[in-house]
Amino acid sequence: MEQLIMQPRIYAFDTCREFASAFDLGREDLVLTNRFLYEPHFSQLGLEVHTIYQEAYGTGEPSDVMVESILKDAGEIGPYRRIIAIGGGTVIDIAKAMAVAEPGDCLDDLYDAMPNLERRHELVIIPTTCGTGSEMTNISVMNRTRMGTKMGLVSEAMYAGSAVLIPELLQGLPFGVFAASSIDALVHAVESALSPHATPYTRLFSYRAIEMIIQGYQAIVEAGPESRQSLLGTFLTASNYAGIAFGTAGCGTVHAMAYPLGGQYHVAHGESNYAVFTGVMKAYMERSPGGELQHLNSVLAELLQCGRDEVYERLEELLNHILPKKRLREYGVQPQDLGAFARSVMENQQRLLKNSLIPVSAELIESIYRSLY
Ligand SMILES: [Fe+2]
Repeated sequence: MEQLIMQPRIYAFDTCREFASAFDLGREDLVLTNRFLYEPHFSQLGLEVHTIYQEAYGTGEPSDVMVESILKDAGEIGPYRRIIAIGGGTVIDIAKAMAVAEPGDCLDDLYDAMPNLERRHELVIIPTTCGTGSEMTNISVMNRTRMGTKMGLVSEAMYAGSAVLIPELLQGLPFGVFAASSIDALVHAVESALSPHATPYTRLFSYRAIEMIIQGYQAIVEAGPESRQSLLGTFLTASNYAGIAFGTAGCGTVHAMAYPLGGQYHVAHGESNYAVFTGVMKAYMERSPGGELQHLNSVLAELLQCGRDEVYERLEELLNHILPKKRLREYGVQPQDLGAFARSVMENQQRLLKNSLIPVSAELIESIYRSLY
């Protein structure tokens, strides 16, 4: 059994200037980013790189149309050897697809050629939220507009050569984005720890990430939201650890159940995960309280200074200080959606459900949604 996949080399720099110099950024580089990130951090460095601002191609989740338009424009600005992705999940997902594509390529052809895609460009990924962990994985989730569905493009060739952590880039992250993305990282850490595909190596990263994130939240609750500024490096590292863990062990039922809520009611990824997180954990507790869950609960009990039987109530209390949890109905979800959501999870999310702590059925999923309604 494969124990740990860690493809990108991992780098950390205090500043963007140090990164630009160490990576010798220049005219053979195409930087895919957002203006609000590039201007304050890179403009004054006077780099000769080509720059594409992702927001010029639409907001929201990445799509085939968006990637094809960016590829076309990238082809017109001149040859580029390396792609430098600086941004959140959308920028990173687009860049992964661009690493295996050439200008003029149609995304449908890439999906058809999966998983035997070839790397066309070197890829450097710099995450600017503390959540996705996507810099460590080889999957890009995109909306296939011509098919009307979201699908993962996956290939060995889509791993970045380098993942670079620069806490300076997170300084402007609004508290809400910080909260939702770091809760996503916590869910990655918990789900990968409980996955049947977890190994002693992935658990090292999962449990360390859980500890760093919970202790970070406790410090923020104690000292106020602005105190997060001194913890950005810790959260960025924890998110990367969680990315390493789920890159091998996978995410499970929480992510699977969050997708319909995110897709239909446009709830941000981290927030939609949080909306279902403790509901899934409580269902696990009722059905499989031993084994790895018992270990996780004792780790949480120690961190939260409470009994093992009340860890999810205490955890929810702590998380509510960071991101107040809403009931599903507060997002506009209708009672009749719950059954449809459950069917959609069973039909479309088997990739994630195979990493569930316990086998789940449509009935169980629907009952968890009801408990959260
Ligand atoms: Fe996630």
